[in-house]
Amino acid sequence: MDPTDLATAFYALEGHREDNLSVTIADLFAEDPKRFDDFHIALDDVLFDFSKQRISRQTLALLLDLARAAKVEERRAALFAGEIVNPTEARPAMHMALRNLGATPMFANGSDVMPEVFAERQKMLRFAEDIRGGAIKSANGAAFTDIVNIGIGGSDLGPAMAAKALTPFIAPHLSLHFVANVDGSDLGDLLPKLPLETTLFVVCSKTFTTLETLTNAAAARKILVEKLGEAAVAAQFCAVSTALDKVADFGIAADRIFGFWDWVGGRYSIWSSIGLSLAIGIGAEKFEKFLLGGQDIDKHFCSAPLEKNVPVLMALIAIWSRNFCGSASQAIIPYDQRLARLPAYLQQLEMESNGKSVLLDGASVEGMTAPIIFGEPGTNGQHAFFQLFHQGTEIVPVDFFVAAQPFAADPQQHQLLVANCLAQSQALMLGRSQAEVEQILRARGLDADEIARLAPHKVFAGNRPSSTFLYKRLSPRVLGQLLALYEHKVFVQSVIWDIDPFDQWGVELGKELALRLAPIVADGKAPLDGLDGSTAGLVTQIRKLKKG
Ligand code: F6P
Repeated sequence: MDPTDLATAFYALEGHREDNLSVTIADLFAEDPKRFDDFHIALDDVLFDFSKQRISRQTLALLLDLARAAKVEERRAALFAGEIVNPTEARPAMHMALRNLGATPMFANGSDVMPEVFAERQKMLRFAEDIRGGAIKSANGAAFTDIVNIGIGGSDLGPAMAAKALTPFIAPHLSLHFVANVDGSDLGDLLPKLPLETTLFVVCSKTFTTLETLTNAAAARKILVEKLGEAAVAAQFCAVSTALDKVADFGIAADRIFGFWDWVGGRYSIWSSIGLSLAIGIGAEKFEKFLLGGQDIDKHFCSAPLEKNVPVLMALIAIWSRNFCGSASQAIIPYDQRLARLPAYLQQLEMESNGKSVLLDGASVEGMTAPIIFGEPGTNGQHAFFQLFHQGTEIVPVDFFVAAQPFAADPQQHQLLVANCLAQSQALMLGRSQAEVEQILRARGLDADEIARLAPHKVFAGNRPSSTFLYKRLSPRVLGQLLALYEHKVFVQSVIWDIDPFDQWGVELGKELALRLAPIVADGKAPLDGLDGSTAGLVTQIRKLKKG
C-alpha cells in the first residue's frame, strides 16, 4: 500500500467530517428522497440497510477512496490465492476453501487443498449422518440422544451459536450441549441431567493442548469410564483437531478423529469438522446449505464492485464510526432469539482478529483498531442497556438483525418483535427534540415549571447510527451468509488498519501465567516470593477463605 495515498484518503475523510459535523442522518434523508434505495443492498437472502448511518454519498465516495488506497482488492486477491496473510504464524487463511462446494481448486501454501477438504468433509458428514440416523450406536447398543461438544473459543462459539440459531432444523430426538469453561460447574451441572448411556462426547480443539478442553475431556472420560467401563470411551468419544497424534493418545480411534488444517483459524473453523456437533444436529444436507451460504458471500465479496460489496461497505462504515466519529464500541442486537449467541461469536471474530496495536511491519498502530463488541437479543437489551444508546454520552453504533417471517412463533408476537426492531433504529436516528417534548408535556396538562424541570430528561438527541440485516427466515443458508459477511468485513478492516487479523498473541500471556499460578493456588504452602503484591495478597486471602 502507498502510505501517501492512504494518508491523503484519511485526511480527506477527516476534513469531510469536520465540514459536516452539523449534518444529521435525518437531514440526509430530507435532502435525498432516494436515500433508502441507494443505501441498501439486497443479496439473494439478506438485505443490508445502511441508510441510517451517518454517511452521505460524499462520505461513501471518500471511504471507497480509502479502501482503494489501502489496496483492498489486491489484498483480497492475496487472501483467496492462499498467500501468507498471517505472517506472524507464517500461514495462509483459507477457511473459504471449507465452504467451496464446487470443483474450483483452492490453494494454500501452493497446493490445491480441495481434495483433502472434500475427503474430510465427506468423512465428517457420513459420521454425522450415522450418529443422527442411529446407524452408529452407543456402548450399550442404543441410538444416541445427547451430544456434548467440549471445546472453547472457536471450538465452541461457532457450533454453539449455530446450534441455537438453527433449532428448528435439529433432529427432535437429539439434544445438543456445549461445555467450554474450565470451571467444573459447566460440565458438572450438565452431566447429571444426561442419560450417559446414550451421550456422545465430541472433543473439539484445533491444537489439542488447550487447558480448558483437555481438563473437561478428561473429566468427562473419567465419569464415563466409572459408569460404563473403559470400552465406552471408544464408542462414545470422538474428536476434531489438527493434532491427530495428540488425539490418538487420548484413546480415540482414527475413524473417529476428524481433521482440519493449520490454515484455518480457530474463530474461522465453524465451516470445518469443528461443525460436527452442528452437522449431527441438522444433518449433512442442511450443513451443506450452511456452507453454501458462506460460499455465496465469498463469490459476492470477490466479484461485486467495491461500492456494492456488502462486507466492504460494512468495514468502511465501521472504520468511519471508529476512526472518524470516535465510537469505541459496536453493538450486535439480533431481534431473533435464536441468534442469542451471535454477539459472543462476533465478539471473538472481531476482537480476537482486530484487537491489535501493532502494524504488520511491527510498528505501533497510531489510530484506533477494533472497537468493543457486545450485545444481547432485542427486545431484552432494550430493558437493560438501551438507555445508554439513546441518551448516554457514548455513541454506540448498532447492527440489528430481524427475520420477516417467524418459524413457528405466534405471528402476533413476531409482529411485535419486528415493530420493536424498527422502532429502535428509528428512535436512535430521529430522537425527540426539546420542542417536541415540551409539546407532549403541555398536551398532558403539565404546568410550565414542571415542563421546564422534566423536559431535559426526556430529550433524545437522535442521530445515532445503525444498520439492519433483514432476511426472510433464519435458515442454514442465511446463517452462513451472515457469518461470512462479518468474516470478510473483519478482513477488510484489517487491511485498512494494516494489521494481522489471523493471529492472537494477546491470549498467550494469561495462559502462561495461569499455568505458573496453578501449583501455587493448589498448594496452600507454596512460597509467594516473586509474585506482585496484589496477586500475593489475593492468594493469601484465598488460602484463608479455603480453610474457613
Ligand atoms: O485462546 C485463544 C484460542 O487460541 C482461540 O483462538 C481458539 O479458538 C481457542 O483458543 C481454542 O483453541 P483450540 O481449538 O486449539 O482448543
